[in-house]
This record gives sequence, C-alpha cells and structure tokens, in this order.
Amino acid sequence: MTQIIRTAAELRDKVAGWKRAGALVGVVPTMGALHDGHLSLARAARAQSDRVIVTVFVNPMQFNNPDDLAKYPRDEERDLALLDAEGVDVMFAPGPDEVYPEGFASKVSVAGVSEPMEGQFRPGHFDGVATVVTKLFGMTQAGRAFFGEKDWQQLQVVRRLARDLNIPVKIIGCPTIREADGLAMSSRNVRLTPDERRIAPVLYAQMVQAARTIADGAPVADALGQARREILKAGFSSIDYLDLRDAETLQPLDALTDRPARLLAAAMLGDVRLIDNIAVPL
Ligand code: PAJ
Repeated sequence: MTQIIRTAAELRDKVAGWKRAGALVGVVPTMGALHDGHLSLARAARAQSDRVIVTVFVNPMQFNNPDDLAKYPRDEERDLALLDAEGVDVMFAPGPDEVYPEGFASKVSVAGVSEPMEGQFRPGHFDGVATVVTKLFGMTQAGRAFFGEKDWQQLQVVRRLARDLNIPVKIIGCPTIREADGLAMSSRNVRLTPDERRIAPVLYAQMVQAARTIADGAPVADALGQARREILKAGFSSIDYLDLRDAETLQPLDALTDRPARLLAAAMLGDVRLIDNIAVPL
C-alpha cells in the first residue's frame, strides 16, 4: 500500500530508515491530477530506484495567474489509487503551510535558462519551481529525481540548479507521453471544451511538420511562419512563442548546428495554455 505522508519530519524518518538499509531513493515531483505522463515517471523511478516517493503539491509560488491556481484540478483519492497500482512507496502530500510556514523568506532563482519563453510569459514561474524543487530535494533526500521532457525548459532549469547548488541528486529526463492523436498529456487538458480538444493536436502536428521541413533544409523562419499560420487558422487564439533553440542552453537558433536542437511552443486555446516541444531532427 502506498503510504500518505504530510509532514517533512515524518518523511525524514521514513527516508532515514530506508537509507540505513542501503536503499536508493527516487522522487517524482508532481502537482497531482495524475495522468499517464506522470505515471510513466513513477514507472521509471520504480525501475531505477529501490524506494519511490511521488510528491503531490500544487505549488502556489509557481502560479503567476491566481485564476490558473484556483482552477488547477485536484483529486487526491484518485492520485493515491493510481500510485498504489504503480507500487509507489510514499505519496508525499504536504499542505501549503508545511512547505511555506509563517516567516518563509527564501527564494531559489536560476538565471539564464529560465529567462526566455516561459520565463518571459510567466514572470516568477521558474523562481517558484526552482524554490519548491530545491525544498523537495531537501525534504526527500532522494538520490534520483525524474522529470518529464514535456516541460523541457523546466528540466534544464532543474539540471542547472542541482549542479549549481551541489545537490547530490541525479536528474533523469523522461520522454513526453501523448494521446493517440499526438496531444501531449497535461493535467490542464481536462479544461478543454470538446471543440478545443479536437483542435488541440494541431499544435504538435504543425511542430512535427516544421521540424521535418527544417531538417530537410528549409529556412527556419519560413518553416516556423507556416506553422504559426496553420496553428492560428485551426483556432488557437494566440501563440506565445514557437522557437528553434539549442536543446541545452536554450539560446535561439536560426539554423541547425551540430548540437542538439529543440522546437518549443506555447499557445492559447480558449483559456487553456498548451506547451509542447520536440527534438529537431525528430
Ligand atoms: P506537473 O505539471 O504535475 O508535472 C510533474 C512532472 O510530470 C513534470 O516533470 C512534468 O514534466 C511531467 N509530465 C507532465 N506531463 C507529461 C507528459 N505528457 N509526459 C511525460 N512527463 C510529463 O511540473 C510540475 O508539475 C511542477 O512544476 C513541479 C516540477 C512538480 C514543481 O512544482
């Protein structure tokens, strides 16, 4: 049975016992409303560690939009049942006061990789992510942490902070899990209307199309311009960004080089913001 733990003190005792027995601890940080994307991380953690903690905490500090925080889906009972079926040892589900007690005054801020794209359109978002992830590493004392490539920029921010702050955790990136029609799984997808749900896969489809054209040698600006037009024509109301960038440094690219490249996008469909990214070449 998956055990629910709600306090850092109780978690620390649990983990100390595991470590005395020589166990390698893996953690999967999440905000709950779990789907197959999250569960694929839990499976990777199960396969690559002896004990698995999945954290479920809707982190207020990383929401720049209060409405998005209020509407964020929550279903703890369902999450627990799903984690139990995956053989997860502990679901760590602290309340906001446990994570941010009275007087909390610190912030982890990662420069560079956190600045473009999500950093530009969601000011303060990555400070919130970096702060909570640093705290979760401290609270879980995990040796391995599993993050989805779905949030590619977040993965680079977390890699940077673990390296910069000498946190003894190995960061493992896991592939994006998609619906049959290509839409990247996301907890926010449940907020799409049936019409929007039909339109949503166009984002990924156009990214794949652009990636192929670029890999075939077409000018990057032309390929991205064409994709933008098709995404808007399909019914997306705006595109925050659709960029080709160095996969690791996230510096913008106007042509492929010998380093790995990534195509990253964020776009609004109704009042839901979708993000996605793929490797170029695929
Ligand atoms: P959340 O959006 O719940 O995602 C938790 C983890 O699941 C992240 O590492 C994310 O990249 C991964 N994930 C989400 N959708 C995925 C998909 N379709 N395929 C594969 N992995 C997927 O990301 C966060 O929460 C938060 O920012 C967090 C890191 C927990 C800090 O609060």
